[in-house]
Amino acid sequence: MTVDDPLNLVLALATASTIKYIGASLWRLKKLAKYEFVGKVTALDLYPAKSCGAISLQSANCTRGGLKHSGVTDRHWMVVRDDGVKVNIQQEPKMTLITPSIHGNKLCFDAPGMPTLKVEKNPKEDPSLYVDCKPKVKAMTAMNCGKEASEWISKYLGIKGAYIVVSTENMAKRDVSELVPRPWLNVPETTDKVTFSEVSMCNIAFENSLRDLNSRLANPVSMGNFRPNIIINGSLAFDEDNWLEMRIGESVYMRILEPNPRCLLITVAPDGKRDPNTEPLKTLRKFRKTKPYGDSPLFGVNTAIDREGIIKIGDPVYVLRKPVT
Ligand SMILES: *[C@@H]1O[C@H](CO)[C@@H](O)[C@H](O)[C@H]1NC(C)=O
Ligand SMILES: *[C@@H]1O[C@H](CO)[C@@H](O)[C@H](O)[C@H]1NC(C)=O
Repeated sequence: MTVDDPLNLVLALATASTIKYIGASLWRLKKLAKYEFVGKVTALDLYPAKSCGAISLQSANCTRGGLKHSGVTDRHWMVVRDDGVKVNIQQEPKMTLITPSIHGNKLCFDAPGMPTLKVEKNPKEDPSLYVDCKPKVKAMTAMNCGKEASEWISKYLGIKGAYIVVSTENMAKRDVSELVPRPWLNVPETTDKVTFSEVSMCNIAFENSLRDLNSRLANPVSMGNFRPNIIINGSLAFDEDNWLEMRIGESVYMRILEPNPRCLLITVAPDGKRDPNTEPLKTLRKFRKTKPYGDSPLFGVNTAIDREGIIKIGDPVYVLRKPVT
């Protein structure tokens, strides 16, 4: 074929671009082919306030900042003491009984014996309310939710001067790559940001692994002890140890930053009771590896979101496995 003829030229170009297109599609298909189906989404839980209760959803927007529904993103509110340090559920187990709900432009909190507390879902930024708070060791700036919220939480927890802070959409977040160095599975990227959660925009746990754990416990525990955002049901217990990346449905891609090293927080059940025998931590330590995480046994995974999208209950879950060594 010569390209002297304009028609031939068009044909030649069309053929070249078709070949290129097919090539790119094949490359994409090859990568997709490596994703292996492992289970389905069985629950989506958004925790607006760190250490408090969850809103269970049928579908949620899985964003880079965490699960988002009706303008509320996971762990963007936090309860702190008068010095700005977070109150944790291990010290105050009744925090788990604080139940959030969304009504119009309000985020509401209910708790036993308390009237409903309503805060703005999307508060206007007001620098006069900026405060330094400490979700971990390092301080960050957040905004005080005001006097009414402070009085409500102080009364419920019996902690003088406690208050609630919020990190609005535009306020600076914590850079995951600058958190305490950890033995990452996938090293965080500079664009991976967390608000008040430990390290992860989205933490995921597996029913199949919970069944294994519960088969070893005298008193079975629920997923509520582990406070995951997404629960997946698969077949093999602790298969997640072998994964690098995950895809949920057709559009959401995530990197596993690390397996989730667990501590005493998991000894608090969703009913606000702390287990006197430190279960299920004690049993997890007996059969789950802790290396290289000190004495913290691994349960579930902490992830960073690479591609955002809607996730629904029942969505299929696919994984890229670690290379076999
Ligand atoms: C999901 O959230 C992202 C980030 O906030 C936004 O850009 C996107 O439009 C949302 N998707 C849907 C379907 O709401
Ligand atoms: C999870 O999967 C197991 C085994 O495949 C099945 O028996 C169980 O009913 C499933 N649970 C849910 C909540 O889908």
